[in-house]
Amino acid sequence: MRVIVSGSYQDLSKKAAEIMAEQINKKPESVLGLATGSTPIGMYKELIAMNKDGKVDFSKVTTFNLDEYVGLTPDHDQSYDYFMWDNLFSHVNIMKEQTNIPSGIAADLPTECASYEKLVAKKGGIDIQILGVGHNGHIGFNEPSDSFTISTHVIELASQTIEANARFFEEKSQVPKKAVTMGIGAIMKARHVLLIVNDKSKAEAVRQLFSGKVDPQVPVSILQLHPNLTILVDRETADLLPLNEDSREVVLQG
Ligand code: GLP
Repeated sequence: MRVIVSGSYQDLSKKAAEIMAEQINKKPESVLGLATGSTPIGMYKELIAMNKDGKVDFSKVTTFNLDEYVGLTPDHDQSYDYFMWDNLFSHVNIMKEQTNIPSGIAADLPTECASYEKLVAKKGGIDIQILGVGHNGHIGFNEPSDSFTISTHVIELASQTIEANARFFEEKSQVPKKAVTMGIGAIMKARHVLLIVNDKSKAEAVRQLFSGKVDPQVPVSILQLHPNLTILVDRETADLLPLNEDSREVVLQG
């Protein structure tokens, strides 16, 4: 586990973009696992700037997004499909047919989930997976539960998630109650996981990652078992985490 503490959201986003670009430059046909939410927006902005400056080329990458709301069409401004085009895909030289987002409107969602899972495997799995985290510790939309779900599945959103995401909708009642999410299996199989945290109110959930205890009630806690995990965290949140153990590389910036 490598923890990088940054003084500002901009530094954090820059560092995340540099790590992504390094991966793409090393392997132009990289498979990227992408996330939505407000946290990675700064990283996407940096990547757009780097792409315009010729520092990173998306023409050969394949992308898989973590999740999508059930019932929202891609043109709905709160769908994760819309988010990705708005915040990244429309602004870089990516091939549309190489971008993948689970469909939340497929007539047969279990079949859609199975195909998505197969496609990730067919492409050789994920080289680098970007993750944010929910206040309740969810990753993607893998919500707190008594057990982990390994493959892509339909999930009932936790009331805390509906509450948290209501800010993006006109009314709380408009927040979908279900989502399709990649499971814990594809995330844990990613060759590199990059977790970005920029909100001290998430520190309690993230602390579980340092506890030595994997708990499906706090899904992010499973990442402590990942052999190649980088955590990018803002200083205020980092101050609330137990980062002084010798076994962890802590890089302070800014
Ligand atoms: C959503 C997404 C997650 C994301 C989380 C946190 O629920 N499904 O992938 O990590 O929100 O979002 P934010 O970064 O806005 O706090």
